[in-house]
Amino acid sequence: MYLFKRSSDLKKHLDQVRKSNKSIGFVPTMGALHDGHLSLVQAGKKENDIVVCSIFVNPTQFNDPKDFEKYPITIEQDIKKLNDASTDILFLPSVEEMYPEGLAGNTHYEFGDLETILEGKFRPGHFQGVGRIVHKLLDIVQPHKLFMGQKDLQQCLIVRRLLELINSKVELVVCPTEREPSGLAMSSRNERLTPAARKKAAVIYQALEKLKHEFGNGLYFLESAREAFEELQREGFEPEYVDILVLENGHLHHISEPPGDHTVVAAVAAWIEGVRLIDNMVLQGRI
Ligand code: PAF
Repeated sequence: MYLFKRSSDLKKHLDQVRKSNKSIGFVPTMGALHDGHLSLVQAGKKENDIVVCSIFVNPTQFNDPKDFEKYPITIEQDIKKLNDASTDILFLPSVEEMYPEGLAGNTHYEFGDLETILEGKFRPGHFQGVGRIVHKLLDIVQPHKLFMGQKDLQQCLIVRRLLELINSKVELVVCPTEREPSGLAMSSRNERLTPAARKKAAVIYQALEKLKHEFGNGLYFLESAREAFEELQREGFEPEYVDILVLENGHLHHISEPPGDHTVVAAVAAWIEGVRLIDNMVLQGRI
């Protein structure tokens, strides 16, 4: 595996790759890699000649500085995992490399209501930071395909919108959420849970499964979401939202009437032991 820290070196290398007509898959990450990330690398390898993975803990997407400070850094293990997964290239830039203009910046992306609901409501500015870094990484890597996990559903929709806004031809491939045996969605944040909380966190998955079941049975969805919220509270979580949403033309809106053929998703964010966990499930259709 090649490791590049400078974008100019990586670009030079990738220019050669493109000249030899090889396709490039790209997996952007913030490190603390788990099997969910590695499944993206695998998907990237299957669909492309080479796979580039980036590890960069992006300061501009953390609305809470404490979350940024606590973000796990496990670079030695990450390099080993990527090597074992036969990743071709790792891009490991510094903050100065990615933000020579400084962190303040004045870019703004018109994500519309996609960035004000769900995560956007609780993490103001987060998706502008995601847009800014993904745009920069895409300019450097210029991949054919970009691989992201469905666990960050709203992020996937934001990136899909970003690709439209910047007229990019890059294809976004949304890969299924990898889960622990208990059903808990894999996340770098799971490492910060005690074993007891990690076990209990499977309740989030169970709540989503229940919503899917009830939706399938035509039960009243807003009531189901409220019940799931209360169930999480009873289990010792501090939920921020349990929402059922309709995906229509790349936008998510709260369900208010029977959704017809549109894609319907349930999404959850909940705190336990000071750790914020998110998860979602498609109830109907596809992302
Ligand atoms: O999902 C992540 O790890 C990050 O939000 C991403 C896409 C790498 C941008 O920093």
